Parts: sequence; structure tokens; C-alpha cells
Amino acid sequence: MPYHEIAEEARKRYDCFAKAYRAIDASSTDQELRSHYGKIITVLCRSFSRPITVLDLGCGTGRYFHCLDNVQKLIGIDTSSEMLKEARQPIHQERLNIPHTELICGDFSAQAFPAQSFDLIYSIGVLGEYAPLDKTICQKLNTWLKPRGKLFFSVVDAASKPPTQSLKWRIAEGLYPVLPPGWKSKIRQERLWRSLYLTETQLKEILKAGDLPDVTINRFGVEGDGGWVGAHFDCSSTKPVASNQQTLQYSAS
Ligand SMILES: C[S@@+](CC[C@H](N)C(=O)[O-])C[C@H]1O[C@@H](n2cnc3c(N)ncnc32)[C@H](O)[C@@H]1O
Repeated sequence: MPYHEIAEEARKRYDCFAKAYRAIDASSTDQELRSHYGKIITVLCRSFSRPITVLDLGCGTGRYFHCLDNVQKLIGIDTSSEMLKEARQPIHQERLNIPHTELICGDFSAQAFPAQSFDLIYSIGVLGEYAPLDKTICQKLNTWLKPRGKLFFSVVDAASKPPTQSLKWRIAEGLYPVLPPGWKSKIRQERLWRSLYLTETQLKEILKAGDLPDVTINRFGVEGDGGWVGAHFDCSSTKPVASNQQTLQYSAS
């Protein structure tokens, strides 16, 4: 399926889900997940010794904006206008100290940011989850980074999300031909998201093909605290100053 069609499916899902998603930002659900990624984003920001320009790719409700530190310009992009509406009043808005914030509604894969625009690009819960991660996307992200810029993103570990065997799911699959259109579309979406998850081997192949240098992969799993259950591969890299360095290193996780 082409990128723009997948982005349109994500838009439909998140336009409906935006208010509930924003409510989770202020709840105890997914706290382990949020605290894990929040800390990583703060550490990444503080690793720069000067104010930085940041891209939050698939920023949603701005769940992690309050974790940003030392940021002079933030660009948040999301395909869902309803999620972006929520991002205008993100969680812990009172803690934000960012001189310039721009929220862009659109599919990031169709964006043409100038090369070397960002010191830091991060993307949580988007790539290999609601948008494909492939060679072209890796190359795009790398192009948008400044030399010595940092990239961080999470990808769902396909092995942590085996095809669902629940009775409810099997019944729904069996009844698919006669289900009402709304149900059919939910099932089609669920199949689509699952097809975007990656195994570690697939992920490594994509990173290699996408010329992303020095990628470290750490697996982070959550048992579930009433929210998301499964594991992500956390991928991080720093763009070398000389773009001809293409050594790939992987952590031994
Ligand atoms: C699971 S939410 C994550 C939101 C936020 N990063 C967070 O961690 O709370 C996935 C977000 O990615 C957005 N998204 C999915 N595909 C996209 C695309 N192609 N371009 C821009 N945003 C996209 C969705 O609209 C949704 O807001």
C-alpha cells in the first residue's frame, strides 16, 4: 500500500481517538512507557551544548513536548488534525519553554524539509507501527539531520505481537464477509498495523539499506499497566560529520 494511503488510515484512526489519547497523557495508563521515552528525550536534548532545533515526527497530542529542554525551535508533524488540536494544549504545558513551535498537519513522508534542518529528530510509536519504516524513510530522516544531529525512534518488535488468537478476533475474522462496513474497516486497519511491525532481522536490514550509520538498538518491553503491551526496538544514532562514514554497529541486545 502506498505511503499516503497508510497515512490516511492513520489519520482516520487518530482523528477519532485524539480526545481519548490526550486523556491517557494525564492518566496512570502507559506510565512506564511514557516515563521511559520521556527520560530518553530529555537526555538527548541535554547532550547538546547549545539550543537546538527539533522535529517530533508523528507528535500526536504533544505527549513528550514537556520533556524537551534547551530547544529553540520545535516542529511537530502529524497526519491527524484532531491530535494536533490536542497538541496545542499538551500535558504539562506550563513547563514548556520553547521560543518557536510549529505544528504541521500532514504525512511526514510527503514533507520536503530542507537538508540538515534538525539537531534532533525523534519519533515515538509511529514508525514500524502506524507508518512504514523502510530504506527511503531512513534516508529521508538522515538527510533532514544536521551533521552530529541525533535520531531516535521506536519500532514495534513483531515477535512481541504474535498474530492474535483471541476468540473474539477469530470470530470476527470468520464473520468478516458479512460484517458491517465499520467493523470491516477496523479489522482491515488492525491487519495493516500488524503488517508494519518488524522483526529485529528485518529492522537491521532496513537500517543497513537506509545508510543509517552507527545505529544502536535496544529492546524495551512492557507487561502492560492497563495500556499498551509488547516491546519496541529503540533505535538511536548520531549523524557523522563526514557523510561517507557508513559503518553499522549494533548493540548486542
Ligand atoms: C501512537 S501515536 C504516537 C503519538 C506520539 N508520538 C506519542 O508518542 O504520544 C501515532 C501518531 O502518529 C501519527 N502518524 C501516523 N502516520 C503518520 C504519518 N505518515 N505522518 C504523520 N503522522 C503520522 C498519528 O496520527 C498519531 O498521532
